[in-house]
Amino acid sequence: MTRTSSHLLLLACAICAIACTDKKVKTASGNVPFNDVSPLITNIGARTSYSLDGAWKYIADPQRIGYYNYRNKPLAPGSNYFADRSSTADPTALVEYDFDLADSLAVPGDWNTQKEKLYFYEGMLWYRKKFNFEPAEGKRYFLYFGAVNYEAVVGLNGKEIGHHTGGFTPFDIEVTGKLRSGSNSLVVMVQNDRRKEAVPTDITDWWNYGGITRSVKLVEVPENFILDYSVQIRRGDGGNEIYGWVKTDGNAEGATVSIPELGKSVKADAAGGFSFAAEPELWCPENPKLYDVIIETASDKVADRIGFRFVETKGKKLLLNGKEIFCKGVSIQEEQIGMGGRVTSREQCRALLDEAAAMGCNFVRLAHYPHNEDMVRLAEEMGIMVWSEIPVYWTIDWNNQGTFDNAATQLTENITRDRNRANIIIWSVANETPISEERNSFLFKLIDRAHELDGTRLVSAAMEVKDLGGGHVTVDDPLIAKTDLISFNEYMGWYWGSSRICDTTYFTFEAEQPVFISEFGAGAVAGRHGDVSARWTEEYMEDLYVRNTGMLENRVDGLVGTTPWILKDFRSTRRHLTGTQDDYNRKGLISNMGVRKSAFYVMKDWYSKK
Ligand code: GCU
Repeated sequence: MTRTSSHLLLLACAICAIACTDKKVKTASGNVPFNDVSPLITNIGARTSYSLDGAWKYIADPQRIGYYNYRNKPLAPGSNYFADRSSTADPTALVEYDFDLADSLAVPGDWNTQKEKLYFYEGMLWYRKKFNFEPAEGKRYFLYFGAVNYEAVVGLNGKEIGHHTGGFTPFDIEVTGKLRSGSNSLVVMVQNDRRKEAVPTDITDWWNYGGITRSVKLVEVPENFILDYSVQIRRGDGGNEIYGWVKTDGNAEGATVSIPELGKSVKADAAGGFSFAAEPELWCPENPKLYDVIIETASDKVADRIGFRFVETKGKKLLLNGKEIFCKGVSIQEEQIGMGGRVTSREQCRALLDEAAAMGCNFVRLAHYPHNEDMVRLAEEMGIMVWSEIPVYWTIDWNNQGTFDNAATQLTENITRDRNRANIIIWSVANETPISEERNSFLFKLIDRAHELDGTRLVSAAMEVKDLGGGHVTVDDPLIAKTDLISFNEYMGWYWGSSRICDTTYFTFEAEQPVFISEFGAGAVAGRHGDVSARWTEEYMEDLYVRNTGMLENRVDGLVGTTPWILKDFRSTRRHLTGTQDDYNRKGLISNMGVRKSAFYVMKDWYSKK
């Protein structure tokens, strides 16, 4: 396969997978295209854009009357809430909703932690933003959503314009020619009711925060603009090469890719492919070197900060830039420190990553879904490697083609958004999914898709362990045939027996792959003290961490990293123990308010020796 045809193949995979999913699926809003969005524009932060963040009017609609009549039939356009009618304009008219009179929610943000009455709310909720705008001649416009949980139907000036499913990945919708000069009405119907066929499915050990949880922008680009690009490094015959492709919304011929600091500038070929010899400083935790990279065409220019590094496995070893590395990690949920819900700012990302760094981490597992772009980019600047995951979690509806398309689209959107982030070294396609034929074939296809979309990173999943008895544990999950690392979660001393079993348990693995422990841990209430055998005390948790790290250090063959569960106590509707859990999973090494528990220092100490 020549370089140009490989570029073309990669390009074709990337484009086809997102834009043309015209499969119709039954969703709460009827049989609508699974995703009805425009091709994803990457590096949105570097584009000309107008923020639509701030206060949005909202109407909670548990019976979904804003979209359906009493026979559960979609209302005719013009009579559903996209019409954004006024109840006062014509006193003779019967209008039983009015966004102008409604209360507001902040965007970005989940609705659950903003309004007491929406704390447990799952269902349909309408958002409306009015904004004044003067579209410019010769420009194209896209509405960009960082993420909306779970399903979004978007309407502009009374008309439905797009539909997206999946709560943690970005999407954009072209509105060129649909914007008015002057006042515009943007209405978004959001639904987050939990469903068997969804991804994630209807049970998760995290709070189902609903809403427009990440920023919304009106993006302005030239007629022919740079849609997407890949800039990576590989070993060439006479040294390293930087290579990749540029995709424009039109003809990419003549696009140039420049790295001023390296004195390099090259023209892309007709298919948008490029490569040139270069010896950049390689990105690594000790030296998170990023270069200014400029992608330019006759009509558009996009600047990015990109690092270059090699990540590969050799037998049971994990190598970064050819050197063995140990991932000193921690798992993180995308929930802000404090009483709040979803992270909504760079500062809140930094607060979480600073705690991980303070624990001595060079790695984080962003669980169980793609986190916001700020989290990934900030970790990259801080020299923190990333495990990036899609929410194929527990008992997914494996036989449902719509569910597979949904998972595959979330994977593709995740890789498209972050493919140029040097710090992401692992794509994960699943967490704790019970082994079955259907599950295996579903995940085999996802792993193949990840490898197809990105041949520069490792692919894995948090697999199931097998107890061989006598303290001997292994993983013989069929997924190992396709993954690059054997990853699994273990709960020695919490869900499995008492902490002392760690002292005698050992792990061995047949497959010649590095081993990664993606979860271990215990729950404790910060500040609760007592006997070491008393659960929920810091002493119990600390002891369990001491014994677990001892086991990891000495009795896990091929261990290359771990991400204990979890950095911070986080909300979950599965945690009901009053006075102890109070809607929180208490396995955080810091409390939800950011108070470090003693086990935090066990990890800090262990990592300082690693
Ligand atoms: C599981 C799961 C997590 C969950 C954790 C727990 O392993 O992957 O999502 O929160 O266990 O039970 O605390």
